[in-house]
Amino acid sequence: MNVLGIESSCDETGVALVTSDGTSVPRLLAHALHSQIDMHQAYGGVVPELASRDHIRRVLPLTRQVMAKAGLGLDAVDLVAFTRGPGLAGALLVGAGVACALAAALDKPTLGVHHLEGHLLSPFLSADPPEFPFVALLVSGGHTQLMHVAGVGDYEMLGETIDDAAGEAFDKSAKLLGLGYPGGPALSRMAAYGDPTAFALPRPLLHNGNLDFSFAGLKTAVLTQVRKLGSNVCEQDRANLAASTQAAIVEVLVKKSMRALKEAGAQRLVVAGGVGANSELRAQLNAACQKARVRVHYPELDLCTDNGAMIAMAAAMRLQSGRATPSRDYAFDVRPRWPLQSND
Ligand code: KG4
Ligand code: ZN
Repeated sequence: MNVLGIESSCDETGVALVTSDGTSVPRLLAHALHSQIDMHQAYGGVVPELASRDHIRRVLPLTRQVMAKAGLGLDAVDLVAFTRGPGLAGALLVGAGVACALAAALDKPTLGVHHLEGHLLSPFLSADPPEFPFVALLVSGGHTQLMHVAGVGDYEMLGETIDDAAGEAFDKSAKLLGLGYPGGPALSRMAAYGDPTAFALPRPLLHNGNLDFSFAGLKTAVLTQVRKLGSNVCEQDRANLAASTQAAIVEVLVKKSMRALKEAGAQRLVVAGGVGANSELRAQLNAACQKARVRVHYPELDLCTDNGAMIAMAAAMRLQSGRATPSRDYAFDVRPRWPLQSND
């Protein structure tokens, strides 16, 4: 069966086609992506109304591109999956509306997918897919969570952020350092030239004994340092502060992930979400996991941030595991706020 997936929850329009034979791990046939980063850059962040309008412009041309790359016609699509939430309401409505209209025209069912479940299962699209069970570190612009994943749809929350997400900490610190949007990749590039020990920044909740995170205080500490450095700050100081910020975020993520693995008695770690593209995070997780004799899996680099492939994949894996109820009533709804454990 061929599943078309449409992602439109934030600032990327993603479309993909995944095929499933019902038993082996589903396979990606083609995907296409349009990032709105250039459009939002002028505003220093995502403008929801502009995002929705751009999704409208992109989604059908991207769908045509995907079908052409796969060498198939739309009649080969057996199910249309879309991101039902969480995300920006207007942006989600575009993907849901197009998915339902397309499915109705093709007389095929639809399936609404949880965006975080898409991230969580995206490493199954990689050359080295994981096996259940595993501990997942989900680190995106809006979420920072550690979960125990026993199988598709079987998710237990171990810990999460009580304020800002890790991606948000990267983005907000980058903004304070005068770097563009999205700040994560920019801050990470600048950090490569800096000394991570130059500034003593806080490691929030590192020693509190549980698996929760807090990054709001880090942003305040970065702001204090930026103010101290003043307006004629040199490039090396900025690079040092970027490196120190990255080091604080990465240390907390790595230590809490290792603690979660130990407490859950798990042998595998899966890292997903945009911050999973961070090379320092990957290097330190690789080293810690090697030491603890734990396997670590990541999505392919181009599938770390939002994309349609992870949505098609999550739908295909849900169907395969019998944990999905495709719909034919085409009366879509979206869930801008939607906890993953309540996924039904
Ligand atoms: O998963 P994602 O594409 O979107 C959400 O669902 O939120 O994650 C986007 C986040 C942004 O905060 C971005 O700055 C961050 O991931 N990010 C990175 C890197 N690439 C993306 N953060 C640190 N280092 C990176 N290389
Ligand atoms: Zn995402």
